[in-house]
Amino acid sequence: MKRGTKYTLIGLGVVFAAMQLKTVDRTNHLGAGDPVASREVMWILRRACYDCHSGESRWPIWAYVAPMSWRVVGDVNRARVALNFSDWVAYPVERRVALRATIAPITITHRMPLWYYVSLHPDARLSRAELDTLQEWSRRASEERQADTSARHSSRR
Ligand code: HEC
Repeated sequence: MKRGTKYTLIGLGVVFAAMQLKTVDRTNHLGAGDPVASREVMWILRRACYDCHSGESRWPIWAYVAPMSWRVVGDVNRARVALNFSDWVAYPVERRVALRATIAPITITHRMPLWYYVSLHPDARLSRAELDTLQEWSRRASEERQADTSARHSSRR
């Protein structure tokens, strides 16, 4: 091996090792309560959204290796601030209505789940029928106003 190549490799190794020293917090938490929706809707949300938009993220192996971990943890933290399904019932009603209404346009245009997530988790790719199920649920966003009093105690919807 050429000398220059060897030192370059050692240098890269040192940089890589140093990157691992920067700690990132991969937190999870028990939230106030999840949306009350049909089993079909919850199945889709849990599979395609919960890793970022909930307190029960399943952290993949690359979430432990810098620099990928910085990206993954950063995205999850931003995603939770924007929308955290685990704390859904603690949101003011109008926030729930607005978020639920946003889910139709954001998923039908494939802006969510984030593209790289779908390539790393092929099971998060939503079928036509699953997208339709989400659209339908999202379009009935105003139901969140009634959900406030009754639905929280029932799992029918
Ligand atoms: C890989 C992580 C990831 C996954 C998976 C993911 N999201 Fe997101 N989502 C984000 C991030 C990050 C943001 C914040 C974007 C920003 O800050 O600009 C976001 C923002 C949103 C918003 C915007 C909230 C607002 O305030 O406007 C909605 C709605 C949303 N996501 C819905 C979903 C839905 C529905 C799914 C599943 C089908 C999903 N997301 C899957 C990372 C993710």
